[in-house]
Amino acid sequence: MLRIGMLTSGGDCQALNAAMRGVVKGICNKRKDVEIYGFKDGYKGLIYSDFNMLTSKDFSGILTQGGTILGTSRQPFKLMRVPDKDGIDKVEAMKHTYHKLHLDCLVILGGNGTHKTANLLREEGLNVVTLPKTIDNDLWGTDMTFGFQSAVDIATDTIDRIHTTATSHSRVFIIEVMGHKVGHVTLHAGIAGGADIILLPEIPYDIKAIKNVIDKRTQAGKRFTILAVAEGAISKEDAKLKKKEYKEKLANRKYPSIAYELAEQIEKETDKEVRITVPGHTQRGGTPCAYDRVFATRVGAKAAELILNEEYGYMVAMRNGETVKVPLEEVAGKLKYVDPNCGLIQEARTIGISFGDEV
Ligand code: F6P
Repeated sequence: MLRIGMLTSGGDCQALNAAMRGVVKGICNKRKDVEIYGFKDGYKGLIYSDFNMLTSKDFSGILTQGGTILGTSRQPFKLMRVPDKDGIDKVEAMKHTYHKLHLDCLVILGGNGTHKTANLLREEGLNVVTLPKTIDNDLWGTDMTFGFQSAVDIATDTIDRIHTTATSHSRVFIIEVMGHKVGHVTLHAGIAGGADIILLPEIPYDIKAIKNVIDKRTQAGKRFTILAVAEGAISKEDAKLKKKEYKEKLANRKYPSIAYELAEQIEKETDKEVRITVPGHTQRGGTPCAYDRVFATRVGAKAAELILNEEYGYMVAMRNGETVKVPLEEVAGKLKYVDPNCGLIQEARTIGISFGDEV
């Protein structure tokens, strides 16, 4: 008997179901003696032994379905080896569930936080295979994560739609794009949507540079300016602060997010009306795009191969168009940032897109 535990953890995204379907189809095509334990709401299900017994039928018809059929949650706890307030040592509790159910392995789908925990479980002797999920595309060790392309499509669609209303009213529009501390989604959606200015956490901006671009566009007779702004974008001034100081500044800022702070500054610096659009969680919702369905199916199938070969302790990644296995210890705790000198940024600059850094 092959006993597999499965869980999805962290923020959801498109193609989680497609990836799980790939794993289960890949395994059940080869083996009939399989038990699947679907843990509910991420690591919580593993800690509290809360699961549903699933069969391959449960994974049929979910290729196009957004979200996760298992449910997910942000880690509601610090991963301490000492008991938490509720008296439970979470790591020991997860190990206990694993051993009690005689699991052969865990399939864990998640992003950065999830991978730290997955690696910890590996260090504790559990058999783990992970899959790279997140719209942010910030996981180290893989060229891409599933969810990313779908989010880019949605953010691009938002920017597309803003063009007509921006030009009708002769306004500056700020579209705030998700991505946590990195700018991959903003960079791609900004270019695909024809943004004039793209602000990323990896390239601190100067408000004067933004003002110059808007003024120049106005002088050239352009009726609008579109800024695609990553939610984690940071000014040159703030980038000089120590991490702790910046955190405190963010905690005390009077604006709900960066877009609002920028809007106020731009209205002060120019004579333009500014509007803000925040697509927010729509970027994570709904059906996965075709690219993500294929991508998730491929990494899911590769995970199935690893499990059938009893190769554990890996994240399945995509590198140069091929699925590969990457040791979990190489992935855990590292973020993949946008390289400010990458070709994509250079090419965007070549066609006149501003990153708000050149005054
Ligand atoms: O990690 C994915 C992500 O959507 C980030 O882009 C965003 O900062 C965060 O999750 C939002 O988290 P939550 O859904 O918990 O509000």
